[in-house]
Amino acid sequence: MQLHHTVASLRAARAQAGRVALVPTMGNLHDGHIALMREAARHADTVIASIFVNRIQFGASEDFDKYPRTPTADYEKLEAAGVAHVLAPDEKEMYPQPQRYYVEPDPAHVTILEGAARPGHFRGVAIVVLKLLNIVQPEVALFGKKDYQQLMVLRNLVRELSLPVEIVAQETTRAADGLALSSRNGYLSATERLEAPRLYKALSNIAAAVRTGSRDFAALEATAIQALEQHGWRPDYVTVRRRIDLQTPATTGSEPLVALAAARLGPARLIDNIEI
Ligand code: PAF
Repeated sequence: MQLHHTVASLRAARAQAGRVALVPTMGNLHDGHIALMREAARHADTVIASIFVNRIQFGASEDFDKYPRTPTADYEKLEAAGVAHVLAPDEKEMYPQPQRYYVEPDPAHVTILEGAARPGHFRGVAIVVLKLLNIVQPEVALFGKKDYQQLMVLRNLVRELSLPVEIVAQETTRAADGLALSSRNGYLSATERLEAPRLYKALSNIAAAVRTGSRDFAALEATAIQALEQHGWRPDYVTVRRRIDLQTPATTGSEPLVALAAARLGPARLIDNIEI
């Protein structure tokens, strides 16, 4: 495996790499990331991973400074997973001057849910992913479904900017008790970790009710929020949305749905979703 800290070095290697799959990450890799790497290998000759904690997708009061950075362990895991190249630029390499040019995602997509809780987040995600795609020029790029709204925004970005890359979505990797794997699970105490699967349970209950015909989304959401609050959570949202654009579904419609939630437990803000 080759480690590249500069764009020039990565580009030189990419020229010899054939069909490339890119897996962008912010590091602190867990089994969910490794599942993405293994899936990536099924789509390309060469897997390139990037590790970059992107300051501009974090709000001023968010966890950029304490976001876990574990490069040595990450490189070992990537090597074991068969990744050929890792792009791990520093901030100066990724943003040689303060970023002044952005792409503006559709406000309807980015002022709701995660975008309401984290203003500017998707603008920061969109620009860094656009830059990574331009740097690596992969045929395929892979993203996890755990960040469902991010995936929707990036699919639209690629389509509307006619970027020559196929986006592949990977199912969420879960612990045995259902908790979606996330770098932010590391913020949980042992007691909070035992409580954490309740978020998935709340979404599973909603999904089960909708699958068996319930269309009273507001009641299902309220029940889930109450259950979480009773156990010390501070929910930002629990909601049923249309998969395609994450807008509120008609109660009479039959379009594919997804139940999504974000809630704080102790110091951690956890997100999860289930396609219905
Ligand atoms: O999902 C993430 O880890 C990040 O948002 C991404 C896509 C690597 C962009 O910084």
